[in-house]
Amino acid sequence: IPVEDFDLVIFGGTGDLARRKILPGLYRRFATGQMPPEARIIGAARGEMDAEGYRAFVRAALNEFLAPGDCAPADVARFLDRLDFQSVDARGEGGWDEMKPKLREGVVRAFYFSVSPSLFGDIAERLRTHGLAHRDSRIVVEKPFGHDLASAKALNAELAAHFAEDQIYRIDHYLGKETVQNLMAVRFGNILFEPLWNHQYIDNVQITVAETVGVGGRGSYYDHSGAMRDMVQNHIMQLLCLIAMEPPAKFDPDAVRDEKLKVIRALDPATREHTVRGQYAAGSDTPSYFDDVENDASETESFIAMQLSISNWRWKGTPFFIRTGKRMKARLSEIVITFQPTPHSIFDADAGGMPNQLVIRLQPNEGMDLRVTIKEPGPGGMRLIDVPLDMTFAERFGQEAAGSDAYERLIMDVIRGNQTLFMRGDEVEAAWAWTDPILKEWEEKHDRPIPYEPGSAGPDQSLALLHRSGRAWREIKA
Ligand code: BG6
Repeated sequence: IPVEDFDLVIFGGTGDLARRKILPGLYRRFATGQMPPEARIIGAARGEMDAEGYRAFVRAALNEFLAPGDCAPADVARFLDRLDFQSVDARGEGGWDEMKPKLREGVVRAFYFSVSPSLFGDIAERLRTHGLAHRDSRIVVEKPFGHDLASAKALNAELAAHFAEDQIYRIDHYLGKETVQNLMAVRFGNILFEPLWNHQYIDNVQITVAETVGVGGRGSYYDHSGAMRDMVQNHIMQLLCLIAMEPPAKFDPDAVRDEKLKVIRALDPATREHTVRGQYAAGSDTPSYFDDVENDASETESFIAMQLSISNWRWKGTPFFIRTGKRMKARLSEIVITFQPTPHSIFDADAGGMPNQLVIRLQPNEGMDLRVTIKEPGPGGMRLIDVPLDMTFAERFGQEAAGSDAYERLIMDVIRGNQTLFMRGDEVEAAWAWTDPILKEWEEKHDRPIPYEPGSAGPDQSLALLHRSGRAWREIKA
């Protein structure tokens, strides 16, 4: 179903994110007919370029980041025809008045800030003072949304000076992942899970986001950020909220976000005792973290594992284990819900079987696996085995449905005016309020992360975090 007609201005239109994600994503929506044929995309950046130059730039990006089969020449030509470019000075006045005639009246108007957060306030102000934004125009802002609570509050205030909260779309691309949205469908669209979804029936929850890449190339950003700011405060916190939140009364942006906010506010303070931080060592052909960030004294973590607890009626006593890291064994993001064992077993002690598990895979091979115990087929007596009820999306729905990217789904939601999958200002601040004290403590105490082998599951201490309570991480397998 096509969305409404729109004009989308991308600040940072020649930047890396635009090349890799935003423009290829928009092209895919165009090629499938979801982006209306009249809609327009206007790249904006500091450098001088004309519309023809921008089209050549975008053509090269599509060739680089899309599969050749996705780039039908006729579609690409029609898509490029929808593009324009305007050079602007984010901190000065140049280019803003020239942008105005490029925007149409009577269609959805959105501005994507794919630029450094230090420019958010300046751009927001100029959009307003030059009369480019209407009351129903939307702005989309990229991460990182703040470095700590104070800077996040300052950013919120800068945006709020020019735009209302219902115009601000803070992107967390994890919320655009198909499986993440499915988490809500599974929890609230079935009767099966919700009665069991609490501390009485869930033994523990694990969230793993493992990556094989290092931080090479992004070293200067990453060394000031680390896994806590780069992944936990935003992406993993969002996943945790969707798992732990109460059912909202309706699937409406504020109803959903109110419930997520309550989860963050109920999170117990993070403790050093329940945290393991790591830094990858050099491999046979890969540089160490120190070499990647060119800082031998770095105290920044490229891996983190934590045990968290939520102090509310539903979750008291169920540990949430989270871990994320670079240069790990495999690229894998998954959520594992392990249910309690049956209260009493009627079978022989050595009959086998294990507690039920719901495994939600974000990547690769998005899908879900519900592990249930059955009798091993055959005449061997009552032997129990666990088998997956497997729902890999690509197998069930075809690659096309499974293959669209988080960014394109989220941009279409911006055009539809649906903020459900975007973070509200108070949510971001609450997440920083939880993160700040532990970051400060590491800094004050000069905590040094533990070195770990590249290609591993992180430092062994992360295994110990679960062993203490007789539990274990689900193995990281490609
Ligand atoms: C980004 C982080 O937000 O998410 C990166 O800055 C990380 O460090 C990336 O690699 C992971 O995203 P995905 O979608 O590849 O899991």
